[in-house]
Amino acid sequence: MKNLLIIYHSQTGNTEQLAQAVLRGSQEESGVRTKMLKAFDTVIEDLIWADGLLFGTPENFGTMSGALKDFFDRTYYPAEPYKLNLPYATFVSAENDGSGAVRDIERIAKGYPLRKIAEPYVANGVISAEHLDQSRDFGHAMAAGLALGIF
Ligand SMILES: Cc1cc2nc3c(=O)[nH]c(=O)nc-3n(C[C@H](O)[C@H](O)[C@H](O)COP(=O)(O)O)c2cc1C
Repeated sequence: MKNLLIIYHSQTGNTEQLAQAVLRGSQEESGVRTKMLKAFDTVIEDLIWADGLLFGTPENFGTMSGALKDFFDRTYYPAEPYKLNLPYATFVSAENDGSGAVRDIERIAKGYPLRKIAEPYVANGVISAEHLDQSRDFGHAMAAGLALGIF
């Protein structure tokens, strides 16, 4: 059994909708246990539990949400001795292309280190049924890769 951790923040509910769909997709895969936590509530013990990570955030002021940045700030040094090197992917809700949030997450993840295993998923504008379907597929793909030992 592999453990997948979804870490997200949402201020007005858009990323939350994506995260719920990502969670549903991941649960379609047997052999993977998924936990979903708000970034402010995620602690080092959760990272140690995880075999893979999914980060969900809005793009705020051209970068990730302050809550997700806070998660990285709090766990960077505590994680260092564990050399986690976990596979991860990112999903973003943004008015624009989300590239600022993606860029900054990827820069931090390299230092952690974490391994990017998929291109980020960016839902542009108002959340649609298509965004939710794509988010579900995104979560499913991550879980399937973990279950099969591909990542
Ligand atoms: C304070 C603030 C700053 C924002 N800055 C950006 C931005 O730089 N780029 C962008 O594409 N959208 C920006 N947005 C729009 C949000 O990314 C978008 O509304 C997103 O869907 C919010 O997700 P949430 O409901 O999960 O909080 C901003 C929104 C707020 C409230």
